[in-house]
Amino acid sequence: MEQDKYLCPYCLITFESIQDLRRHIVAEHKTEPLPVSEGQIKLTINGEDYQIRVEPEWTLYYLLHDKLGFTGTKMFCDRGACGSCTVIMDGRPILSCMTLAIECDGKHIETIEGIAKKEHPLIEEYVKYHCMQCGYCTPGFIVTAKALLDRNPKPTEEEVKEALAGNLCRCGTYPQHLKAVLVASQKLAKHGR
Ligand code: FES
Ligand code: FES
Repeated sequence: MEQDKYLCPYCLITFESIQDLRRHIVAEHKTEPLPVSEGQIKLTINGEDYQIRVEPEWTLYYLLHDKLGFTGTKMFCDRGACGSCTVIMDGRPILSCMTLAIECDGKHIETIEGIAKKEHPLIEEYVKYHCMQCGYCTPGFIVTAKALLDRNPKPTEEEVKEALAGNLCRCGTYPQHLKAVLVASQKLAKHGR
């Protein structure tokens, strides 16, 4: 029987083992994601370590929501257009419907569940300012706003609007988000998180 070959997806050279392929990618394609040995990935979600076998076609959204039960992460569009599936990966807000789970090896993920558990002021202000009607988009907005406040604790109105520009709300709650994020940032400055 012919032995499996491992094809480099970036330059199409073949290798005898996954280890050889990984070494090649590290040397020749430094900025590209590495293939994962036998589909096993390790990642941290809300501070907890996970080691999981994933299929190549699984998105991070599917892994979080359907496989691990982080159902706070929502999906409207499944095509990178609405922001409802946003999670934080290594400090940056990303769209989990557009990210393959297998690319998340070694990453730190934060979801709305982790933010709620920390009792982040955004949660209280979102409730106080009635930032939701149906609420389906709300986790994505809060996660995006959390990532903004982590990197820019005192954002201006314009900076908040710009950060939230990729999040869509079918119920039209937009003006409320701005108030909630600005008040949460003031609270953070006063009391920390
Ligand atoms: S569900 Fe991911 S961007 Fe809309
Ligand atoms: S509150 Fe319904 S989609 Fe935003």
